[in-house]
Amino acid sequence: MPTSNEKTVRVSVTGASGQIGYAILFRILNGEVFGKNVKIDLQLIDINVDKIQKALHGVALELEDCAFPLLNNLSLHSDPHTGFVDTEYCFLIGAKPRGPGMERKDLLQANGQIFKTQGVALNEKASRKVKVVVVGNPANTNAYIAMMSAPDLSKDNFSAMMRLDHNRAVNQIASQLNSNVNRVSNICVWGNHSPTMVVDVTNGLLDNADNLKDVLDEEWVAETLQPTVAKRGAKIIDQRGLSSAASAASAAIDHMHDWVNGTTWTTMGVPSRGEYGIPENIISGFPVNCSGERYSIIQNLYINDVLRGKIGVSIRELQDEQENIKSLL
Ligand code: NAD
Ligand code: LMR
Repeated sequence: MPTSNEKTVRVSVTGASGQIGYAILFRILNGEVFGKNVKIDLQLIDINVDKIQKALHGVALELEDCAFPLLNNLSLHSDPHTGFVDTEYCFLIGAKPRGPGMERKDLLQANGQIFKTQGVALNEKASRKVKVVVVGNPANTNAYIAMMSAPDLSKDNFSAMMRLDHNRAVNQIASQLNSNVNRVSNICVWGNHSPTMVVDVTNGLLDNADNLKDVLDEEWVAETLQPTVAKRGAKIIDQRGLSSAASAASAAIDHMHDWVNGTTWTTMGVPSRGEYGIPENIISGFPVNCSGERYSIIQNLYINDVLRGKIGVSIRELQDEQENIKSLL
């Protein structure tokens, strides 16, 4: 029996019939982002849903068959202008994935236009408090395209997913220390979701007490941790023949969950306002805290010259990507 204080949120997911879509939808409706007491109006978007694409209709049948108590309403859309109506939480996943031998930035020409169209649609149709996480690659620059195409929304509404890189780093550190991931905190990944990303353990803690710099070998951090995380996506493509999907869905859930419910110290790709000398509007991985449904970049951290140089390389790559899509904006 519904009670009067029951809350309902409106959630949109693009690329809903793709690999990541198939791994994320069931978890969203199981209450893993918004909690077990929050009902969901779910708006699924993929291309050609009304015409040739039958796959999304099949996914919808399965979602119904789960009899999720939290599913309040389900709708399918080809047009983001209808799929984003009043949306409050938006997962922008739909985009082409890379194949073997490609870098994520090679997808910019194929995928950039998608995020222009979706930014315009969000600007017109979404709730003014919408929270957007861009997963489709290259995620940082696609988030920038969407943000710049939505001038009536705050830049704080837009983010790119760097949480997969963060989770990969936490897992590598925990396994190096024969420890559990819950015992590792206060690390972050700066820059671009690309091989230039920079894993930073300077402020990292084990059990909220020991500094990771004292328990991890410096050479292991530079020569093993950093390249393992930076090249993990390519390794999965090489081994699976397809890009990461369930781990990407899990990271997107973590990203939105923490933005909504609050956390201390995680990594989000968010627009710079000049923090740490990173130029304004570059969507970079930053260490953030979240509370009251807002994120804040953690300020005044010490960054040594070596890390600062590496972060600079990643930021320049993002500037180049922005330059390459200038004509879209
Ligand atoms: P996929 O090919 O399995 O699915 C993509 C889906 O998007 C397809 O169903 C396709 O029809 C749909 N789509 C394409 N254009 C669309 C549009 N304009 N509107 C709505 N839907 C559209 O791919 P996937 O494995 O689900 O990956 C999706 C994206 O996520 C890729 O770009 C991939 O590289 C990226 N990705 C990012 C991360 C990250 O950490 N940021 C991790 C994994 C994958
Ligand atoms: C990942 O990091 O697994 C994704 O960005 C997919 C890719 O292209 O590597």
